Amino acid sequence: MTAPGHRDGVEITVGYRGLGTQPDRLEQRTVAPAAGDAPPWDANTPLRAVGSDHDRVDGLAKASGRAKYTSDVTFPGLLQARILRSPVARGTLTTLELDAARALPGIAAVIALKQPGQRVRFVGDAIAAVAGTDLHRVRDALEAIRADYAAEPHTVDYLQHEDAPALAADGSIADAWPSSASVEQALAAAAQTHEATYRTEVQTHSSLESHGAVAKWNGDDLEVWCSTQATFGVRGELARALRGQRIDVGTLTVHAEFVGGGFGSKFGAGIEGLACCLLAREAKAPVKLMLDRFEEHTTTGNRPAALLQLRAGVDADGKLTAWDVRSFGGCGFNVEKGEGGGNVAVPDYYTKGAKTRRKHLDLATDTDPARPMRAPGYPQGWFGAELFLDELAAKAGIDPLEFRLRNDRDTMRLDQWRFGAERFGWAEARARRNEPGARLVRGVGLASARWGQLGNPGRQPHGIQCRIHQDGSVEVRSGAQDIGTGLKTVMVLITADELAIPPARVTAVTGHTGDPSGPGSGGSTTTPSLAPAVRHAAFLARQELAALLAKDLGADAAQVAFGDGTVTVGGRALSWADACKRIGPNPIDVRGKRFPNYDSEPFSAVVCGCQFAEVEVDTWTGLVRVVRMFGVQDCGLVIAKKLAESQVLGAMLQGISYALHEQRILDRTTGRMLNGDFLRYKILGSEDVPELGCHLMTVHNGHTSTPAAGLGEPPSVAAPAAVANAVFHALGAPVRHLPITPDKVLAALAARRQ
Ligand code: MOS
Repeated sequence: MTAPGHRDGVEITVGYRGLGTQPDRLEQRTVAPAAGDAPPWDANTPLRAVGSDHDRVDGLAKASGRAKYTSDVTFPGLLQARILRSPVARGTLTTLELDAARALPGIAAVIALKQPGQRVRFVGDAIAAVAGTDLHRVRDALEAIRADYAAEPHTVDYLQHEDAPALAADGSIADAWPSSASVEQALAAAAQTHEATYRTEVQTHSSLESHGAVAKWNGDDLEVWCSTQATFGVRGELARALRGQRIDVGTLTVHAEFVGGGFGSKFGAGIEGLACCLLAREAKAPVKLMLDRFEEHTTTGNRPAALLQLRAGVDADGKLTAWDVRSFGGCGFNVEKGEGGGNVAVPDYYTKGAKTRRKHLDLATDTDPARPMRAPGYPQGWFGAELFLDELAAKAGIDPLEFRLRNDRDTMRLDQWRFGAERFGWAEARARRNEPGARLVRGVGLASARWGQLGNPGRQPHGIQCRIHQDGSVEVRSGAQDIGTGLKTVMVLITADELAIPPARVTAVTGHTGDPSGPGSGGSTTTPSLAPAVRHAAFLARQELAALLAKDLGADAAQVAFGDGTVTVGGRALSWADACKRIGPNPIDVRGKRFPNYDSEPFSAVVCGCQFAEVEVDTWTGLVRVVRMFGVQDCGLVIAKKLAESQVLGAMLQGISYALHEQRILDRTTGRMLNGDFLRYKILGSEDVPELGCHLMTVHNGHTSTPAAGLGEPPSVAAPAAVANAVFHALGAPVRHLPITPDKVLAALAARRQ
């Protein structure tokens, strides 16, 4: 291998090893790392810690309660706070009187979050906030606030919007398709066609830890602990918002050392974060403001509802020749120019040879708006598209797997389909027939996944701090947050491999904005953005240690070798601990950075996956139980294998929950959510967990020194669709409206019998 830092190129091997008995798909590529960057790890690099089954490094701290989340942060004299929320869905605030609340005992601060005359946009819109010595007094004070509203007629159902399509009695879109000569010609020429309408409901955010913050002022300096997936984003947002309130902030530090999930709902401080800072300033005391579960369900955004209609045709070979999709998003009040975050994504790798058309319209309602949630737009669209494809395949007399193999244009996924089908036992399970008249019937289904992300370095070159101390411990720090996915473990394993030491010697710290910047955890880009920076930091630290040892021992720095916990300097082997003793009281302290991706094409610009599910349906009660699922997932370079697998299995569980249970129910008269708690908003419970398995494949995309991909979104794309397809197989009739609740299953069975 050429020495790093040469613009003239390094030869590397990219691609992946064959799945099961399949052939390797490896290629040679010449890449040009930036001067000073660590050399690329490629498909032939032996790695020890990276890719191993190492435990989550903060697992014990989390399981034992020692990990301090925002909701655990406390100080002497800490005040509690709550928000007064609008009971009307649409209208204007006309009166806001706060003095009676201010006069109550134990109340330290009361602030307006809206002024009379301002618009109220949904039930739960923030009106005012109170801080006091305990939550009982704070609640009393909220009741003492007088707020009047001029309410206006509201709509909470997007299908009642004036631009919503007309629905037939069976739920399908009754409006004629707008004309498209090319699609219609292709449909007319097709050997088989199909048309159907699919629908999904609003899924609310259910992170383990609710949204909220603790704010503490020291003079003009502000420290904020926030449950967020973007420490630097929150810092910027609060700095701007406080300046907007004419508050001069000295230093502003955000902490999010441990975060109980975000899933797309926690990119901002939100009105609750700003209210917390303002209350703390007025009260001259630290304030904690955490949302309760009802507020989580009703004010922190959601995966919007979707309605989509598809029509398509195949030729005599079962290849798609026409593909027409129109969709509508029910996405809350924030629709501007037809875009409110309700967009629905559908797969594009089946239809490369077809005449296609794609149309979408977001429809506003007077409700809490859409917010990103794990693969925004994908699970809803993939559910519709993949179930539609199974229905079309059934009409054409083609097995669903065979149908995918004929139409999927992605070589990697074709390998995954074949391997996954083999491991899952697709052919046997699909051929099995249910006993005629049996109460319990089984079925199997499959679905694909895709996500685009290779992690760009962000606007600033994100950094990582790495320190080697004289006691042999290594500290690696990022100001970005680990929202539970495992960034700390990723940092530890990469550093351990670069320094050739056991992972136990390395400690990772995340989530303090005093440390080098990192991206918000969105779009599955945190790991691919930061892994190369972690690597670069460790690479620089190693070079400094080598130089120091060489100087100390009178050797040539190029002759210093690291391996297996020892350092060899000019033929003399030192243990890591002995080598580090020579560092002295001031640690080696370097800052690595995220260089841009190499100029050359990555092996694959998207990550691929597919999943298989088996369900059992009780035909008497209509209850669906998922029996087992199996997934094959591309992950770029797999770094922390056990955690990556958890990402896939967790996505399957969330997908089952979305497919079978989750649904926000709003009262049309009041606009209020009727099931805003975990008693009535059903999510999957531990009793419902099926047998889960996955195979993670390392794919060397050759786009950075440490070519990782992220797994936030990719595994959540296929799961609901695979479950819906399995239900279709079990029943012999599709359920085209999520969640697949017993009433819909029984209706599908009744319709089939007719
Ligand atoms: Mo994600 S929905 O980019 O947190």
